Amino acid sequence: MKIAIVGPGRMGSEVAALAREESHEVVTTLGRDDAISRDTLAEADVAVEFTLPEAAPDVLSALARAGIDAVSGTTGWSDHLPDVRRVVKEAGTGLIHAPNFSIGVAVFRRWLRTVASDLDGLEEYDVALHEVHHTRKVDAPSGTARLLAETILAETRRKDRWALTPGDGDGGPLDAGVLRITAERVGWVPGTHEIVLDGPDDQIVLRHEARSRRGFARGALSAAEWIRGRRGVFTLDDMLDERLTSRDQGGEG
Ligand SMILES: NC(=O)c1ccc[n+]([C@@H]2O[C@H](COP(=O)([O-])OP(=O)(O)OC[C@H]3O[C@@H](n4cnc5c(N)ncnc54)[C@H](OP(=O)(O)O)[C@@H]3O)[C@@H](O)[C@H]2O)c1
Repeated sequence: MKIAIVGPGRMGSEVAALAREESHEVVTTLGRDDAISRDTLAEADVAVEFTLPEAAPDVLSALARAGIDAVSGTTGWSDHLPDVRRVVKEAGTGLIHAPNFSIGVAVFRRWLRTVASDLDGLEEYDVALHEVHHTRKVDAPSGTARLLAETILAETRRKDRWALTPGDGDGGPLDAGVLRITAERVGWVPGTHEIVLDGPDDQIVLRHEARSRRGFARGALSAAEWIRGRRGVFTLDDMLDERLTSRDQGGEG
């Protein structure tokens, strides 16, 4: 694949390094002062974008108008998704976006749907979410924690909203309808997410622990291969659904 990297930061660099290791070609790297156009992207098959929340909607619209399929890993721009979707549709290009490109997290969410749908029949267990990230992270809860929380809320009637809480001892009565999220910032942790089911006699913990940024880069590269030649806006779930379904069917389709 001939790849354009858009956003030469930590994730852009990780994707570029892995792409070269896997014998892809990084044909251009575009930063905030570079134009996005058919000319600057002429050699690329696909663009991989990891920029900033405030930049992503314009960058993704420009990539679509330049006629290039794209992978977007930037978090925090989902309010602008309808506008970006319209531009992608008009342009007839493909876009796959996810706040977490780790295949492991996507699998974790598939399993979480099953667990969360059982909660309505397991009144004795409460559920909560805990996430840990490095101290340079600016947003809390993480985009992934929000995604996991929304996954739970969609499957159970016992929780109708989530709230970030400072942690144990923050005071105030607990509203049983609230899914509590705690966020911890320490050291260099690339991303750990835990779903805790706590009952009177035991505790079940589902835990995903990223070891490095590599898993995000690997998922983004898989997504880059997958999105080429598709039209419309997709998420990592669409890609994984297709991958696991075609495996169920014996690898065809
Ligand atoms: N989906 C996932 O799996 C995943 C994983 C990790 C992180 N993320 C998200 O990915 C995003 C980037 O993370 P990061 O750690 O790589 O951040 P970062 O190190 O700050 O990199 C962002 C890069 O984007 C550049 N940039 C800003 N505006 C731009 C524009 N208009 N056009 C092109 N480049 C532009 C920045 O340039 P300057 O240095 O000039 O500002 C910087 O090089 C964040 O939203 C983060 O939450 C997602």
